[in-house]
Amino acid sequence: MKFLITAGPTREPIDPVRYLTNRSSGRMGYALAGAARHDGHEVLLISGPTTLDVPPGVDFIPVETAQQMYDAVRDMLRGVDVAILCAAVADYRPVACAEQKIKKHTDKLVLELERTPDILGSMRSVFGFSGKLIGFAAETQNVVEYGRDKLVRKQCDMVVANDVSQPGIGFDSRENAVVLIYPDREEYLEKDSKERIAMQIIEHATILPS
Ligand code: C5P
Repeated sequence: MKFLITAGPTREPIDPVRYLTNRSSGRMGYALAGAARHDGHEVLLISGPTTLDVPPGVDFIPVETAQQMYDAVRDMLRGVDVAILCAAVADYRPVACAEQKIKKHTDKLVLELERTPDILGSMRSVFGFSGKLIGFAAETQNVVEYGRDKLVRKQCDMVVANDVSQPGIGFDSRENAVVLIYPDREEYLEKDSKERIAMQIIEHATILPS
């Protein structure tokens, strides 16, 4: 099968030396790419900036901004059987990037932000993607309820939800504990390394009903 996986944070420039980002390490997405490749699949990883090594045998497109990730995903969907959108895409970006470094002339500075394009939300409705679609949901409360809402709204086949308020799992850590949300049920994967969680997610992804 052919997998497309997004990973990592995005960087939204404020001026030539500053940007908005988040604490995503990219580990979950890179582990998914490695696990899918290990299982013999063709894998394209589209990732924002991380400190990680691209797993051997995985095709790689580095991006920085949400817009670049959106464009790369849209352009690379041909022939993809399973898309797993795991990146922590910035929800907002500065309306404009200052051409020169912003100087500290004033006590307060207001940054005007606008929504970034919703990649997961565009997969079916804008890109016409008809393969298996897996989204991620990082929540701090009502994890299953919010995850299920995302599954329906974004027309996913499965949403991998995790509670990022729990210490030691999820964002910027080596372990994770997730719940796989399907249209008709949930399945809990207990706390484990991101590599072993990734192997289980890939197994579930390959047997999604059509
Ligand atoms: O709505 P929320 O940002 O929590 O959704 C998270 C899911 O949506 C993840 O799968 C993430 O990769 C994807 N996403 C996206 N494009 C965005 C924001 C989130 O693909 N602009």
